[in-house]
Amino acid sequence: MRVESPKFETTRILFVCLGNICRSPAAEAATRHLAAERGLPGIEVDSAGTSGWHVGEPPDPRMVRAASRRGIRLEGRARRIRPEDFDLFDLVIAMDRSNLTELRRIAPAERTERLRLLRAFDPEAGAGAEVPDPYYGDDSAFDEVMEIILRSCTRLLDHVTQDPPHRRKADWAT
Ligand code: 4NP
Repeated sequence: MRVESPKFETTRILFVCLGNICRSPAAEAATRHLAAERGLPGIEVDSAGTSGWHVGEPPDPRMVRAASRRGIRLEGRARRIRPEDFDLFDLVIAMDRSNLTELRRIAPAERTERLRLLRAFDPEAGAGAEVPDPYYGDDSAFDEVMEIILRSCTRLLDHVTQDPPHRRKADWAT
């Protein structure tokens, strides 16, 4: 018999953007950083891209610098989302509506309730708000993305700790 042990339950979160070199690695690292700051166990994070354009590449140096200005270190190499990710992760969080549309297209029907927009958790954003793509922007675009991500991931962790997805009581922001 499987004994439920909520104390040691792990919540797995996958952040997804287009290239997996700017926004989603930043969200992954920010969430890891914020969880460590709070001493939260049981949070596992990863990131992926909907495209395979940058597979194997490290995070964009402009994103690395914007994160490092806030004491956050970006790691990893870009990968493309895989079908099994929808089984492995409790939450699959898109940076913009185009990422979300693509995730809805490729996710098995029984897994679409795991999909979210990151800014659904941003206390300063309205419904449907997106993390803007900074790729063709300047340093201020990357700084703005970091601020949005930090705000949203802070609130996301509040949700995960108060109402974990595997023991969900209330409706989550969608
Ligand atoms: P990301 O940013 O989706 O946040 O990683 C982008 C990275 C690369 C491209 C666009 C957005 N690109 O056009 O190659």
